[in-house]
Amino acid sequence: MRAAVIPAAGLGTRFLPATKAVPKELLPVVDQPALQYVVEEAAAAGLHEVVLVTSVDKGSVAAHFEPNLKLEAALGKPGNEHLLETVRALSDLAHISTVDQDSPRGLGHAVLCAQSAVGDEPFAVLLGDDLIDAEDLLLQHMLQVRQERGGSVIALMRVPREDVSKYGCASVSATDQADVVIVNGLVEKPSVDQAPSDLVVVGRYVLDPAVFEVLKSTAPGRGGEIQLTDALQTLAARGFDGHGGGVSGVIFEGRRYDTGDRLEYLKAVVQLAIKHDELGPAFSQWLHDFVQAQAPNS
Ligand code: G1P
Repeated sequence: MRAAVIPAAGLGTRFLPATKAVPKELLPVVDQPALQYVVEEAAAAGLHEVVLVTSVDKGSVAAHFEPNLKLEAALGKPGNEHLLETVRALSDLAHISTVDQDSPRGLGHAVLCAQSAVGDEPFAVLLGDDLIDAEDLLLQHMLQVRQERGGSVIALMRVPREDVSKYGCASVSATDQADVVIVNGLVEKPSVDQAPSDLVVVGRYVLDPAVFEVLKSTAPGRGGEIQLTDALQTLAARGFDGHGGGVSGVIFEGRRYDTGDRLEYLKAVVQLAIKHDELGPAFSQWLHDFVQAQAPNS
C-alpha cells in the first residue's frame, strides 16, 4: 500500500477570518502547518504517495511541499543551514499530487474524487483536523490489521457519552485482539440517546478500493452530504466476503490533538508546544508560572 488521501478542500469557516486568504490546513500548529504533521505521519507509515483533495483556489496547500528555489537561494548564506535543510526536507517527504473537489459535497465525495489517483489498491485516508502523536503508531497498526484481516479498518476512540454526536459512532463486537474489534454498524453524528456506543471514528481510515463503488451509490446523508461513514456502514453490513466487504476497528488510546475548532486548536497548540524539542522547556516553565499567577489567592 502506498497512497494516502488527505481531504483539504474545506472552506475553514470555523476559523474565519484567519482562513479568508490562508487555507485552514496551513494554519500553524506551533511552528509548522497542521497539514505537515499529517503528511509526515503518512510518510512515517511508508505511504509516500500523498493525494491532496483540494479546490482550485487552494494552490498554496500543495506549494508547501514543492521545492521553492527562490527561498532556498535566499537561505544559502552561512548560518541558515538548518532552515535550508528543513525547507528542502519538505519536498522529499512524499510524492504529492492534487485532485480537485469542485464543490464541498462531503467527506465521501472528497474520497471519491481521489479514485483515479489511487487506482484499484487499498489506501489510507487521513483527516487533517485530527493530529495523532508521532510516537503513537496508529496508522502502522491499522495497516497491519488490514493485512491480517482484509476489508477496511477505521480508528476508534472512547469519548464521554455527551460528545458522541460530534462524530461517526460504531457498534462493535470483540475479537481475540484486545484493541481490535469487528464493526457491525456505523452512524454519522447520532443524537446521544440513539448512539450505539461511546466508540467514535477518529480521522484515520485504511480503505479497501471497494469503497469507491459503494460511494458512487451512497445517497447524501447527514447535512445533505455524501458521508464516508454511510459507505463504511454498507461495507460493514456486507461482512468480510473476500470482495472488499467488512470493517475492523482499532481502538486507539494514544494522544490525539483536535485542530478542528478554535478551542480544541488552542489546546493542541499548547500540548504540542510543551513537547517541542527546542521551545518546550521554556514554554512549559512560562505556562506553569502563568497558570499559577491566574489562580485565585495566588
Ligand atoms: C468527520 C467524519 C466523522 C468523524 C470525524 C473525525 O466528521 O464524518 O465520522 O468522526 O470526521 O474527526 P467532521 O469532523 O469532518 O464533521
